Amino acid sequence: MGKILLSEKDIQKICEKLGKQLTEDLKDEERIPVFVGVLKGSVNFMMDLIKHVTIPIYTDYIQISSYRGVNSTGNVQLLKDISYDCEGRTVVIIEDIVDTGCSMAYLISHLETHKPKRVLVCALFNKEFERIKDVEVHYKGYELKDNAFLIGYGLDYYELERNVPCVYAVDEEDIQKLDDWISVHGM
Ligand code: IMP
Ligand code: MG
Repeated sequence: MGKILLSEKDIQKICEKLGKQLTEDLKDEERIPVFVGVLKGSVNFMMDLIKHVTIPIYTDYIQISSYRGVNSTGNVQLLKDISYDCEGRTVVIIEDIVDTGCSMAYLISHLETHKPKRVLVCALFNKEFERIKDVEVHYKGYELKDNAFLIGYGLDYYELERNVPCVYAVDEEDIQKLDDWISVHGM
């Protein structure tokens, strides 16, 4: 396995810190805020993060597609919309990683059509230097300094490895192993 970037323990520390910050920042909201997880990559992060949010919240999920393998297509499609009425509420988008910002820019402008009070963004990873679209990440778990492709804890390579409990930066050998696995077992 390539270099481990975040261990399970590191991830739990980040979730605790961000959960406390969100609790503090949202404790005086008039209406109950809605945490919107972006399927499927944010599921692991969402589950661990919300354990540390100690005010009442609603949870919902949205699904988009834009990625194939290790390259972003920049072509974002809505696969599943939120099912909760977010009008007048603070919406917190929970995402695994904000890279070019294309997915997040789409998500923000889409969620704005639901007329929320405001939209906040919380991402486990941020790749500020890769931005094409100017989006702000209000709550950041880990700021990346180089352009490694990350896998594990929700982050996938052709849908594989989301179940790995830590996050690692892939090397050539990892990609080869996963490609071999796919060619033997199918997608
Ligand atoms: P963006 O639209 O370029 O900001 O890409 C955001 C989406 O691409 C995220 O929601 C991830 O699903 C995926 N993504 C970006 N970088 C990585 C990575 O290093 N590993 C796995 N998925 C990634
Ligand atoms: Mg994603």
